[in-house]
Amino acid sequence: AAAEPTLRDVYEKDFLIGVALNTRMVNGQDARAADLAGKQFSCLTAENDMKWQLIHPGPDQFNFTTADAYFEFARKHKMEVIGHTLVWHSQVPGWVFQGEDGKPAIRDELLKRMKDHIHAVAGRYKGKVRGWDVVNEALSDGGPDILRDSPWRKIIGDDFLDHAFRFAKEADPKAELYYNDYSLENPRKRENCVKLVKGMLERKVPIDGIGTQSHFQLNGPPVEEIEKTIKEFAALGLKVMITELDVDVLPGRGPQGNADVNRREQGDSTTNPYTKGLPADMQEKLAKRYAEIFDVYLKHRKSISRVTFWGLGDGQTWLNGFPIRGRTNHPLLFDRELKPKPAFEALIKKG
Ligand code: XIL
Repeated sequence: AAAEPTLRDVYEKDFLIGVALNTRMVNGQDARAADLAGKQFSCLTAENDMKWQLIHPGPDQFNFTTADAYFEFARKHKMEVIGHTLVWHSQVPGWVFQGEDGKPAIRDELLKRMKDHIHAVAGRYKGKVRGWDVVNEALSDGGPDILRDSPWRKIIGDDFLDHAFRFAKEADPKAELYYNDYSLENPRKRENCVKLVKGMLERKVPIDGIGTQSHFQLNGPPVEEIEKTIKEFAALGLKVMITELDVDVLPGRGPQGNADVNRREQGDSTTNPYTKGLPADMQEKLAKRYAEIFDVYLKHRKSISRVTFWGLGDGQTWLNGFPIRGRTNHPLLFDRELKPKPAFEALIKKG
């Protein structure tokens, strides 16, 4: 019998089709998931293992063994690797922001630490990654300032991004360098992102692309906003990447939220109707949502170089734990048994 079509084949001429993998998938503990990921996807991102906390937990302590396994996996399955992420306010150990004296670090101290980290990590994988998410989530979600008031900004100042990209360029001159963030389909945040990146381009900061994470919901953001974001970023002359795509099917996200989310209640509650699985009508809704999103991506395939899903199967998705722990969510293309869902079939059919 002819081999079943795969996502990586179906979208080969359009863009890379990527997936976030976890430790067990690349170190041999989850062979079924590894096999499926290698068959279906042309690109991988480590869901956690290249973040500062995991790859550089102590001042003189690096854990490259786990990160190396992703590169070995990619080589074996002929996949590209995206480095995620060099500078972020989350999943970074506390010592990074502390001075020798236990007081907060000062600007020069933190800049040196940033430089050493980027040189060590991006330097080790020089020539092996396709690109790095150099800075992740620097934009604020509201308020008077464009930038989030992270320790990076508080201690170094607004130019911390410029420095991060220049250090990354020194470490791996051929790697693509990306700015990555979420909610960039929100008109205000999108506008701020354009301002931020325009400034970097004017200052000749080496940036090659913008990643829009794309943690979406069933009902939002509207495809019109998804399209505007792609167009406006492409108009800057940069590559556009969809870096962390998933579609939350549970109630409680979006502008209003709901009581559970506001209380940060733990576990599935009466507001999760899908603890036993996603019924057929909802599977159809999810498939339609993915199809309408991919229609936009295909329309702009000349601008989009990659579409990456933030996980392989629903059993492992971070959305089982965010924004509430212990939920049963169903945001991906494969179910908890790693069986393809109607959403997968819709994308394989391609329109
Ligand atoms: C998430 C991972 O999926 C989780 O396993 C981890 O506990 C927290 O981080 N934006 C990002 C990703 O850039 O790195 C985050 O990944 C999800 C949000």
